[in-house]
Parts: sequence; structure tokens; C-alpha cells
Amino acid sequence: MLTAYDYSTAKLLEAAGVPIMLVGDSLGMVVLGYDSTLPVTMEEMIHHGKAVVRGTERAIIVVDMPFMSYQISTEDALRNAGRLLKETGATAVKLEGGEPVAGTVRRMVDAGIPVMGHLGLTPQSVNQLGGYRVQGKTPAAAVKLINDAAALERAGAFAIVLETIPAYVAKMVTDKIGVPTIGIGAGPYCDGQVQVMHDFLGLFPDFLPRHARRFADLAPTIDSAVKAYIDQVKACEFPTAKESFGLDKARKALEGGECVTPYGGGSVQVMEASKA
Ligand code: KIV
Repeated sequence: MLTAYDYSTAKLLEAAGVPIMLVGDSLGMVVLGYDSTLPVTMEEMIHHGKAVVRGTERAIIVVDMPFMSYQISTEDALRNAGRLLKETGATAVKLEGGEPVAGTVRRMVDAGIPVMGHLGLTPQSVNQLGGYRVQGKTPAAAVKLINDAAALERAGAFAIVLETIPAYVAKMVTDKIGVPTIGIGAGPYCDGQVQVMHDFLGLFPDFLPRHARRFADLAPTIDSAVKAYIDQVKACEFPTAKESFGLDKARKALEGGECVTPYGGGSVQVMEASKA
């Protein structure tokens, strides 16, 4: 599983063989520039969810329920989960938490909504957790995690994301429950793995979480492409006749001038000539 937030990337991920895409509320941080996932709204999740669904044909699309869209009441949670499926066309929703949300998960599943759980480092609770820290480190915390996973399974969750917990705890959860676990920062003993696309592709040059690996380093590639574009526009090397319409005619209309961009001097004349 990988996160996806837009049409064209979802299309690329599906073509490369990704079976599950998560429209994560991480989009608040990596796409929208918020400093946590807390400000993300239902409308933002729907907007991006729709785009990812439009870019895919076969992949399972899971959309995150944003902060406060499922905590107020079960009715509210059910209404919002229904909206996410109806308005985006996605297959499933994901929400954070264990035993306390199990009743809500049950209601959703009974209503025909597939639910993915999310335990361990649950970013919507960052203010309670005191930061983005490894969870489940003490014996008591590990037992609580296992019980939470079992509660989600009993409630009907079809899979559970385990985020930033010790690998041996993830193994205990994976061994204990019958539905697949999907790890992020939870070591190799999970049934699947998920990564945030921007970490995976190196789109955040300044920060890489310890659990992530850059499978590509796109930030320098983008930097050099943009610099080449600026240089070539300024040097009148782009666009050429190949990338233009009626450029040769415009050239002929200009006495001796070669450059047709406003950056090269005398070019405005050419643009006018070409319009004529
Ligand atoms: O929002 C997200 O991207 C997630 C993953 C970190 C699992 O929930």
C-alpha cells in the first residue's frame, strides 16, 4: 500500500502494480502544508479521494476519516463514512484508535462500509502522545495494543495499520489477529507495508522519517529540471519551432531577429508579428 493524493500519481501507482492506495490525511502535511493532520476537513478528503478514484480502475482505494469526523457520535461517524464512499467512489475508510472506536467500526461494517483500523502512533492524537514517538514500548502498552487490535478485528475491520511500534510488538499483533496488518515503522513482521508517497519518492528533501526509505530521489531531479527550464527560456532555447505554432512565419516577419520570447530583447515585436 502507498498513499496517493491525486489523479495522475494514482494512475502511475496503479500501472506500477500497487494494489491498495491510501488517501491518507497525511495529505494535510505533505500536500496542503499544515503542520499536523488535525486541520484536514471532510471536504479536503473528498476532493483528493475523488481524484485518486478517477485515476484508478482496479486498486482498492481507502480514504482516511479526518480528525473529528468520527469521534463525536456514532451517527455522525456513520454519516461521514457514508459521504466518503458515496462522494469519492472509494472502497473503504480508515480511522484511528482501538477499543474506544470499536462500536463505531461495528456500526459502519454493519452498514456495508469496509473499515481499516489504525493503531500505534495515531497522528490525530499527537497532542496527547506528546509528539511523533514510538508507541507500545512498555509491556502494558504492548498488551493494550494487542487488545485494541483484537477489538477492531471483532468489530469487523478488514485490516489494521500499525504505525511506529517495535517490530516484536507488531509481530505479536500480527500473530494474534486474523486480519492483515499493514506496517509503517512497525518492522518486517506485518502482512503488508505502507509508505507515504512523498517520503518514498524523496519529495521532502529536508526530512526522512527513520522508518522510511527513498526509493527515488525526486527533489534534486525536480530542482535541475526547473533550473534547466528557466535557463532555456531566458536563453531563447525554449520554445523552439518544434514546440510552437507558426513560428517560422513569425521569424520571417522579424528582420534578423531570432528570439521570440520577451526575455531576449526585440521579441515583443515578433509576438506582435506572429499575431498579425
Ligand atoms: O495518513 C496517512 O498517510 C496514514 C499512513 C501513515 C498510514 O495514515
